[in-house]
Amino acid sequence: MSSSAKITEPARKLDVAWVRQQFPALRQKVNGDPAVFFDAPGGTQVPQRVIDAITNYLSTCNANTGGAFVTSRRTEGMIADARGAMADFFNCATDEVIFGPNMTTLTFAVSRAIGRELKGGDELLVTCLDHDANVSPWVCLEERGVKVRTADVSPAACTLDMFDLSAKIRRNTRLVAVGWAANAVGTINDVNEVVRLAHEAGAMAFVDAVHYAPHGPIDVRALDCDFLACSSYKFFGPHLGILYGKREQLQRVRPYKLRACTELLPDRWETGTQNHECLAGLIATIDYIADAGRHHDASAGTRREAILAAYDVFRQHERELLELLISGLLAIPGLTFYGIKDPAKLDQRTPTVAIRMASRSPRDLATYLGEKGIFTWDGNYYAIDLAERLGVQQSGGMLRIGLSHYNTAEEVERLLEELRRLARK
Ligand SMILES: Cc1ncc(COP(=O)(O)O)c(C=O)c1O
Repeated sequence: MSSSAKITEPARKLDVAWVRQQFPALRQKVNGDPAVFFDAPGGTQVPQRVIDAITNYLSTCNANTGGAFVTSRRTEGMIADARGAMADFFNCATDEVIFGPNMTTLTFAVSRAIGRELKGGDELLVTCLDHDANVSPWVCLEERGVKVRTADVSPAACTLDMFDLSAKIRRNTRLVAVGWAANAVGTINDVNEVVRLAHEAGAMAFVDAVHYAPHGPIDVRALDCDFLACSSYKFFGPHLGILYGKREQLQRVRPYKLRACTELLPDRWETGTQNHECLAGLIATIDYIADAGRHHDASAGTRREAILAAYDVFRQHERELLELLISGLLAIPGLTFYGIKDPAKLDQRTPTVAIRMASRSPRDLATYLGEKGIFTWDGNYYAIDLAERLGVQQSGGMLRIGLSHYNTAEEVERLLEELRRLARK
């Protein structure tokens, strides 16, 4: 081997025992069996340090901002730290981070503000694969005479029809709203290409990263999107929404705001008093992810590097569980699988899968599994257009099994065993 040849390091394996120790909720039992949390796309569990940070804020810092006393100053410092943590998470500047109650509310704030600059004849593009939180806020703008088009999906593997999408981006398209990953069936979209197509037509790109954020690293600089929204309760944190906005867009677009609020960033976009205790929890969330990175890769220096190292091991572990899950599901008679299942394409999806079984409704399945301590989800999970497109909306939707890095192969086996038992009945 030449001295310049690169030695490929073996992929690091996730220390699942270390991970699971961090999450107190994982110790719960249901009817004597350990609880299995396959409800991650609806909301993940939180590490102990997040719970402690929330409690600590309320015990030692609880105050509003702008006061001439210590707890108020601590609160302001804590909010600045939370913004710094999210700037590392997104790879952006701190004044490009906007906090709010959840992704839906932040998306409505952006859509209302953008609506002020739209006129009749303008068009917006949404997709058939998205959660309604990235559809309705844009469709509501039709009352201003704007036309909203919908990019279709290819139902065979529930992937975005990129041909249809690019054909629907036209001269008068002002914004393209796309999900990074589909919360119903796990498809990861080619968001780089969608942003590129939007910009090529002079349109803005709004990315819903809610379902992607727990599974993959976000780099808004590399993606070059105009806005990106996510929710920390989907990535091991408290119930909060976080918006990234490109500085020039946050300065240019006019949000509805109070007179008392300054025009400075991020103030002009943040309405009312924030959820301070959850922001304290958010710092601990990002630190958990970074610590997970450092636990597996001691060479990770900055917090950003440590975050990226964490996603490397999370992804590797989730991939192994996903292969086990999909191959097990496909061997069950009478089971319909929705989404990407080709082993060569598993990096184009998250470990969130949707199924139906011939013998039982999704609600019956979820109830049966719930009694066994296995938490899954049934219905459409607000991916209404997709459920309609797949023809399952009128019959209970699908059963969604959503894995996270804190799940284990034994848990996947337990689920498969229960489904096999049901298929034999
Ligand atoms: C993909 C996706 N987008 C948006 C949302 C809405 O997020 P929030 O509850 O923070 O408004 C969800 C919630 O399930 C989601 O899964």
